[in-house]
Amino acid sequence: MQIVILKNAAEVAAYGADIFTQQLARNPGSVLGLATGSTPVALYQELIRRNQAGTVSFSKAKTFNLDEYLGLNGEHPQSYRYFMNEQLFNHIDINKENTHVPPGDAKNPIEACKEYEARISAAGGIDVQLLGIGRNGHIGFNEPSSGLTSRTRVKTLTKATIDDNARFFAADEYQPHLSITMGIGTILDARKVVLLATGENKADAVHAMIEGPLTAACPASALQMHRHAVIVLDEGAASKL
Ligand code: GLP
Repeated sequence: MQIVILKNAAEVAAYGADIFTQQLARNPGSVLGLATGSTPVALYQELIRRNQAGTVSFSKAKTFNLDEYLGLNGEHPQSYRYFMNEQLFNHIDINKENTHVPPGDAKNPIEACKEYEARISAAGGIDVQLLGIGRNGHIGFNEPSSGLTSRTRVKTLTKATIDDNARFFAADEYQPHLSITMGIGTILDARKVVLLATGENKADAVHAMIEGPLTAACPASALQMHRHAVIVLDEGAASKL
């Protein structure tokens, strides 16, 4: 693991944006793995700025998102498809047909998981996978106890994750308890992994991921096994290392 500690969230976003910009400069047809949550938003804003300034192009890129709520279709404002359209895809020169998010409205979710894996393989695998980290150490929606070689599948969310993400849902709004997520094995197959974490509330999870044992109790610790994992932290997230 390469650990990069920067002053603040803005520097973390710029560092992450540089990795994606360089990747697309090397190979405009790159396959990018993308993430949701609040952490990557600043990175996406930076990529939008660079795309509009003409310093990076997504016109040949393909993307695969980590996860989606099961039970929400892409028009639902809390779905991760909607989030990605709003936060990135609608503002860059990407062909929407080249963007993939697991289908939250799949009639047969188990089949849909297999198809998602097949699509990633058909695209040639993921070149760079972006990740955030949950306070309980989850990556994607791979909650603690997830198999370290797991593939894309349906996962039940833990109470901790449901509570953490409740802030995005109105009090009387239905909040899904199930998701479709790439597995830890799927994530580890990416040729490079970039995990961003900012803020002191991530410090315990970051400590467990980097300095704790390799264990399914902290899914992000699986990145200890990856040859090209870059962990980009601000001072708050790094404060317990
Ligand atoms: C969700 C997503 C994860 C994300 C995590 C942390 O549960 N499925 O991919 O890393 O939230 O989100 P945030 O960046 O908002 O702290």
